[in-house]
Amino acid sequence: MLILGIETSCDETGIALFDSKKGLLADALYSQIAVHAEYGGVVPELASRDHIRKTLPLVKQVFAEAGITAKDLDGVAYTAGPGLAGALLVGAGIARSLAYGWDIPAVAVHHMEGHLLAPMLEENPPEFPFVALLVSGGHTMLVKVEGIGQYQLLGDSLDDAAGEAFDKTAKMLGLAYPGGPAVAKLAEKGEVGKYKFPRPMCDRPGLDFSFSGLKTFTLNTLHKSDKSEQTKADIACAFEIAVVETLAIKCRRALQQTNSTRLVIAGGVSANTRLRQRLEEMVKKEKATVYYPRLEFCTDNGAMIAFAGCQRLVAGQHENLEFSAKPRWDLESLKAI
Ligand code: KG4
Ligand code: ZN
Repeated sequence: MLILGIETSCDETGIALFDSKKGLLADALYSQIAVHAEYGGVVPELASRDHIRKTLPLVKQVFAEAGITAKDLDGVAYTAGPGLAGALLVGAGIARSLAYGWDIPAVAVHHMEGHLLAPMLEENPPEFPFVALLVSGGHTMLVKVEGIGQYQLLGDSLDDAAGEAFDKTAKMLGLAYPGGPAVAKLAEKGEVGKYKFPRPMCDRPGLDFSFSGLKTFTLNTLHKSDKSEQTKADIACAFEIAVVETLAIKCRRALQQTNSTRLVIAGGVSANTRLRQRLEEMVKKEKATVYYPRLEFCTDNGAMIAFAGCQRLVAGQHENLEFSAKPRWDLESLKAI
């Protein structure tokens, strides 16, 4: 089964072709960083307009790369939510029109299910069941995964998501959007231990996250400091370590609580080198294994949507023509396959 995947939930247009037998045939990504950089964050209206401009040219590009035509396709998968309403509607509108015109089914994919399954595009994919840490710009979630569509939420962010905290910290430190990679780069020059930041919500039981207090702590520390370049690097380093330690503590708890030996991390923040190293250390002690996608599939991409859509279509799932975008969409409400 050959599926076209379309991702337009935020500031990246991701298009890919996934074949259930041959694997990933082609993928293309257009990042809107340059469009939003001068505003210091994503401007939803501009994101929608750019998705309109880029989606079809990228579809043509992946067809050419894979040497296929629309006649070869069995379905079109698109990100139906969660995400920016306008941006999602662009992807949903284009995907559903293409599917209608080509007389093949359209499959609505949950963006976080896409992230969660992304490590399965790698050579040594995790087997079910596993615990997944989903860390992106909009979400910080721990999920028990029994199979595709069988998701039990173990913990969630009560306020700012981990990626959002990185982005806001970057702004405070005068770094360019997107903030995560910029903070991580500055943190490399920081002195470990110069500052010690709190690990939010780790002193009480449970698996929920809260990063907004850490953000305020970072701001107060910056205000009280000499604001030199070295100090900013030390603060970036302390912030990154605090986020990474918090995530590692909660992941260990989740593995122990569920008796799991497999941990999957996915979403933009899973590209963070310090987080990957720390989790490798942690799982070793727990006699568990950690799985993550290749770097370019940590952040938003079309491959994960084509892959997730393909799994659902192979299982006979797609929806009627009335289905559209869902800016808010509960992961636990998905159907099992
Ligand atoms: O999954 P993603 O591309 O989009 C959403 O679904 O939100 O995640 C984007 C988030 C942004 O907040 C970005 O700053 C963060 O992931 N991010 C990182 C790194 N790369 C991206 N955070 C920390 N370290 C990184 N290397
Ligand atoms: Zn994402």
